[in-house]
Amino acid sequence: MEDLRGLMVQCGAMLGVSVICVVLVRRWVSGGVCNCSVRLDGKTVLITGANTGIGKETSRELASRGARVVMACRDLMKAEQAANQIRESTGNGNVVIRHLNLSSLHSVTTFVKDFNDTEDRLDILINNAGVMMCPKWLTEDGFETQLAVNHLAHFLLTNLLLPKLKSSAPSRVINVASIAHRGGHIDFDDLFFSRRTYSPLESYRQSKLANVLFSRELARRLKGSGVSSFSVHPGVIRTELGRHVQSWFPLLGVLLSLPSLLLMKTPHQGCQTSVYCSVTPGLEERSGRYFSDCAEKEAGPEGRDDEVAYRLWEESARLVGLKETC
Ligand SMILES: *[C@@H]1O[C@H](CO)[C@@H](O)[C@H](O)[C@H]1NC(C)=O
Ligand SMILES: *[C@@H]1O[C@H](CO)[C@@H](O)[C@H](O)[C@H]1NC(C)=O
Ligand SMILES: *[C@@H]1O[C@H](CO)[C@@H](O)[C@H](O)[C@H]1NC(C)=O
Repeated sequence: MEDLRGLMVQCGAMLGVSVICVVLVRRWVSGGVCNCSVRLDGKTVLITGANTGIGKETSRELASRGARVVMACRDLMKAEQAANQIRESTGNGNVVIRHLNLSSLHSVTTFVKDFNDTEDRLDILINNAGVMMCPKWLTEDGFETQLAVNHLAHFLLTNLLLPKLKSSAPSRVINVASIAHRGGHIDFDDLFFSRRTYSPLESYRQSKLANVLFSRELARRLKGSGVSSFSVHPGVIRTELGRHVQSWFPLLGVLLSLPSLLLMKTPHQGCQTSVYCSVTPGLEERSGRYFSDCAEKEAGPEGRDDEVAYRLWEESARLVGLKETC
C-alpha cells in the first residue's frame, strides 16, 4: 500500500516536471510575437506561397488587420480553400487569389501584367514561397529549381513590381530567408550545380543566402525611394516545406515527427517575424537588415558581403533577362 502510494507520488511528480518542461520548451521555441496593433485598412499586401504554412498564417494576420490580401499561389484549388477560411476567420472579404507559378519566369511576367492592370497599389510584398531540398529538377527556363523558385523568380517579381511599390511608398518588401543561409555560399561559377555534384542541402543554403543578399542589395539600391526591404528567418516550422526531406529520408521523417512537434514552431508562431517586419512603425531605417524572432539579428558573414550582393544582383538580372534595373 505504502509502495503504491510512493509510486503514485513519484509518477505524479514526474508528470508535473514533464509538463513544466514541455511548457518551457514550447515557450522558448515560440520566439517573439508581434505585439504591434497597426491596422492596414486601405493597404494592399501581396504574398507568394500563401495557401499553406507560414504564408497562409501571414495572410490571415494581415487580413485581420484590414488589408486587401492578394494570395499568389500555384494551386488554385488549395488557394481558394485557404482564402475562404481566411475570409471566414477574419471577417475580411477583401482576400483574393491569383495564379503564380514560380518555376516559370513566363508565369511571373504574366502575373505582374495582370496585377499591374488590376491593382491600384502595393504596400507590402512578401516573398514567402519556397522549395526545400527537392531533387535536382530543372525549371522550364533551365535553372535548378531551388535557386530558381526561392531566388530568381522572386527577384524578377520584385523588380517588375517596383513601379507599384514606389508609387505606393512608404512600402515594404519582406524576403523570407532562413537561418540556413549561414552555411551557404554563392558559387558564381556553378550556380545550378551543372559541374559539381548536386546537394539538396547546399542548394537550399545557397538559395536562402541569395534571399538575404538580394534583400540587402535591394535596400541599398532603393535608398531614399520610400521602399524598404527586410529578410527574415521565420524559425523552424511545421509546414509542408519539409515534404522533400521526408521523401529523401523517410525514417528520419518519422523519427523527427515526435520531437519536432515539441521543438518546431507552429505556422502561426512562424509568421510573427514576417508580420513584425510588415507592420512595425519606424523600421525603415533598418532597411536591408535580417530579422529573426521579431528582432534584428546579424546575418552570416557572406550575407553581409556587399560585393557578393552586388554581383548576385547583376548575375540574376542577366539570368532573368531584366534589362533595366534600379
Ligand atoms: C511583446 O510583449 C511581450 C510582453 O509584453 C514582451 O515581452 C515582448 O518583448 C514583446 N515583443 C516584441 C516583439 O516587442
Ligand atoms: C505597370 O503599370 C505602370 C503604370 O501604372 C506602367 O508604367 C508599367 O510599365 C507597368 N508595368 C508592367 C510590367 O506592366
Ligand atoms: C508550373 O510550371 C512548371 C514549369 O513550366 C510546370 O511543369 C508545372 O506543371 C506548373 N505547375 C502549375 C501548377 O501550374
